[in-house]
Amino acid sequence: MQTLQRTFSIIKPDAVSKGATGDILHMMQEKGFRIIGMRMLEITKQQAEGFYAVHCERPFFESLTNFMSSGPIVVLALEKENAIADLRKLMGATNPANAEAGTIRKKWADSIERNSVHGSDADDTARFELSYFFAGYELCK
Ligand code: CMP
Repeated sequence: MQTLQRTFSIIKPDAVSKGATGDILHMMQEKGFRIIGMRMLEITKQQAEGFYAVHCERPFFESLTNFMSSGPIVVLALEKENAIADLRKLMGATNPANAEAGTIRKKWADSIERNSVHGSDADDTARFELSYFFAGYELCK
């Protein structure tokens, strides 16, 4: 038996600036994700560094955090059975060059950095990422 699971997602600045937000939300809802929290905001470089702290030693950290603080993003709390794995499947490979047809990144992403969407990769990261942007009381029942 599968149980409901929550995951966290970001529609990144590249996708928001090209007007892809509505289409990406539609793709998520078509696959059965329930949006239980949603907010558009701009984050500071420091907030992006905190969110991506796990990548702080990576060579792309500086560029990634500059990019993520470069314009509006949409943060999402999503609920579905098997939400974490199913969202990663719907997003497609991190590098859009390797993304399968029908995925969000195949359709919208420009590069491995400007790759349109983020999705939590495991239970513990989903918990951290959801709580980074949402207080429990903000999420719909
Ligand atoms: P995301 O799912 O948000 O998780 C970490 C992000 O780092 C990833 O998507 C990409 O945007 C970015 N990233 C991962 N690998 C690279 C890379 N080799 N070069 C640049 N950016 C990367």
